[in-house]
Amino acid sequence: MNETINPLKNPFKFSLVDQTISNKDIKELSNWLLENNRLTKGELNDKFENKWSQWNNSENSIFVNSGSSANLVIFFAEQCIRKKQNLKVVIPAVSWSTTVAPGIQLGMNVILCDADEKTLGVSVDHLEKIFKKHNPDVLMIVHVLGHINDMDNILFLCQKYNVTLFEDCCESPGTEWNGIKVGNFGKAGSYSFYYGHHISTIEGGMVVTNDDDFSEIVKSLRSHGWSRDLSSLTKSNLKKKYKINDFKDQYTFYYPGFNLRSTDLNAFIGLKQLERIDSVINKRFQIYKRYRYNLEGNTWIQTCQADIISNFGMGLIIENINDVVKKLNNASVEIRPLVCGSIGEQPFWINYNEKQILPVATTVHNRGLYLPAHHNLSIDDVDKISDIVLEAIK
Ligand SMILES: Cc1ncc(COP(=O)(O)O)c(C=O)c1O
Repeated sequence: MNETINPLKNPFKFSLVDQTISNKDIKELSNWLLENNRLTKGELNDKFENKWSQWNNSENSIFVNSGSSANLVIFFAEQCIRKKQNLKVVIPAVSWSTTVAPGIQLGMNVILCDADEKTLGVSVDHLEKIFKKHNPDVLMIVHVLGHINDMDNILFLCQKYNVTLFEDCCESPGTEWNGIKVGNFGKAGSYSFYYGHHISTIEGGMVVTNDDDFSEIVKSLRSHGWSRDLSSLTKSNLKKKYKINDFKDQYTFYYPGFNLRSTDLNAFIGLKQLERIDSVINKRFQIYKRYRYNLEGNTWIQTCQADIISNFGMGLIIENINDVVKKLNNASVEIRPLVCGSIGEQPFWINYNEKQILPVATTVHNRGLYLPAHHNLSIDDVDKISDIVLEAIK
């Protein structure tokens, strides 16, 4: 990586995540700001979306203000299309709070699926049982820490049981299998550009979709429900359908929208980092491979069939976790639980439903953690962290 990136101040020798915005990005942003450019969503927003579509091989991209907003707008767009409040949606127990929360917020019936013991994506066996029993409308999968789900079987089951597939790719941009990047397997996919992710727009997220109609609804929902960002064909169809003249169209709202927009300032930073996202992903993949080489056979490690694993963090399941956490912290390695653990055991879920024990997800909840795997680590750092882990799990 040629760009100079000042690491953020962090008390740990090996921080869990790190800065992706370079000094050059900041300088160029400062100059751009001084040029009196429009700061709210404008040309750069469109440019960032187009470049993201090109990079991800997707037809449409919609830039929003977080990965959580991307998930929210995907679920709500589907609800608007189906004109049905109580959709049945299947979501992995090993996911993230805001993968599940929109289902609850929008009055959907959320069913949790257990995790696969290798990938930590959905368990295909449990998924089929759920499909048979509940006949759901939607499945949102998560490629946990960059590891792809068992796509062959999931696509087969979704087709067989007529379930619409969405992908939460917030931890996995650029993960690829069979020449296809994640986000393109289902109807739409979400991405996060928060600090510590593969690129960062400070806060930010993206929706991708190869379905043009879905894209138009997401764009409208992103901005109040108006038609301003839509294609001229969609705009004129809407005007005709509702008999709206040009003057009134400026403030006509076709969907019960949100405001989930980002700004051109954020798009500026995103565009700069998009130029080097492939090298970030490559570095993260090399780090994953090195950890695997160092640790395999000594502890459980996450594996999957992807050709490129755009690793977010190195997931481990550890027997004596409390002891290991202390030892790693003492050795100045920053670690966190393996993301949400199991949603079925999170307070917000228990308050709306009841505690749900799912064998693999519960193991992740009780014994999962992840190690630093960001692009600013050297292979030597990975070896040092691996040695500390091997010593700690003895
Ligand atoms: C799987 C997953 N989905 C959604 C999100 C939410 O993204 P954001 O923090 O940009 O809202 C995250 C955040 O890390 C995540 O890991």
